[in-house]
Amino acid sequence: MYDYLVVGSGLYGAIFAHEAKASGKSVLVVEKRPNIAGNVYTEKREGIQVHRYGAHIFHTNNKKVWDYITGFAEFNRFTNSPVANYKGELYSLPFNMYTFNKMWGVVTPEEAQAKIEEQRKEIIGEPKNLEEQAISLVGRDIYEKLIKGYTEKQWGRDCKDLPAFIIKRLPVRLTFDNNYFNALYQGIPMGGYTKMVENLLEGIEVRLNTDYLENKKELDALAKKVVYTGPIDAYFDYELGYLEYRSVRFETETLDKPNFQGNAAVNYTDKETPWTRIIEHKWFEFGKDENGEELPKTIISREYSSEWKPGEEPYYPVNNEKNVALYARYKEMAEKENKVIFGGRLGEYKYYDMDQVILAALERCEKEFNQIK
Ligand code: FDA
Repeated sequence: MYDYLVVGSGLYGAIFAHEAKASGKSVLVVEKRPNIAGNVYTEKREGIQVHRYGAHIFHTNNKKVWDYITGFAEFNRFTNSPVANYKGELYSLPFNMYTFNKMWGVVTPEEAQAKIEEQRKEIIGEPKNLEEQAISLVGRDIYEKLIKGYTEKQWGRDCKDLPAFIIKRLPVRLTFDNNYFNALYQGIPMGGYTKMVENLLEGIEVRLNTDYLENKKELDALAKKVVYTGPIDAYFDYELGYLEYRSVRFETETLDKPNFQGNAAVNYTDKETPWTRIIEHKWFEFGKDENGEELPKTIISREYSSEWKPGEEPYYPVNNEKNVALYARYKEMAEKENKVIFGGRLGEYKYYDMDQVILAALERCEKEFNQIK
């Protein structure tokens, strides 16, 4: 009999399994996909680490998380500096002095600030929708060219019909800093995320292509406790209804040229281009393989934001009133399952960045094993 059955080999499950083993417990991991690593899974093609379930850039301000995860992979110095393409005009993201110079020809931070202030005045009183909220924060020009089309594609709705609270703040930098994240630590694990998760799972039995819910009775009989990182509503057979997600569709293509867009991420911010962004995977590793050799081909993924239907890959939880209330009811049911720990982005119906899911797993392990390093 195993001490723990861990359902799911994403970051949450892999960290839990690693710490359980390190605490002298026996663990079995089951994973319904044919590969480990959950959504951070990367696979090598043409010498390029392809981020199969969407681009993953690790960033954190938490030193504990950084020290922990860098124990399983060496990280490169990748800094996320996305570019916005609005009908062929290119702008720096996040909004910074390069963006403002290109937009208005302003040169100094004072000039940029004055321009933003002047445009923000358009909205008087409390913003009634996302459009008014965005204009009240950064003005109409930036809204029209860099926010409107992208946001409407992401949500499948007009910005006037979206609630203001979706955008609480919009980072405006009066500097030439192109680093998208305000994180102390940032990078991509060299050799790919899959290798990193492999290191976490070293010496642990993993059964791939094994759906826990389809084999629940037999698998439950194998362990004293279960750590479940799949969708919480699926665990209860959708008894109370489906929790909703936004989905993304990826169209990945190998191109017989060394450089397609010169950057890892280009966001298409006009409404007419059907995709939201294009990821060119090789730039996460500076266009080179692990021996420092230039790669002759490139691989790109076009991302299309889409409505989610039951049975499809769930990506982003839709945290509106209806889903928050439904999750609360599932959570109540989960709390009664005293031999099961629900964790991770699906188990907790929560958008977790990687560092947050690592922290959540470590905190849970501290509680469970009481002795983490
Ligand atoms: P994850 O989904 O990875 O793992 C759950 C595992 O459980 C899966 O492998 C699944 O197959 C398995 N499973 C489910 N049901 C099962 C069953 N019944 N039986 C067996 N196995 C089952 N974060 C960040 O910091 N920087 C970034 O750039 C990004 N980028 C990004 C892009 C996109 C498109 C998304 C959707 C998310 C991100 N993230 C991110 C967030 C990141 O993906 C997230 O934090 C982790 O993948 C969460 O890890 P989990 O282990 O919780 O879930």
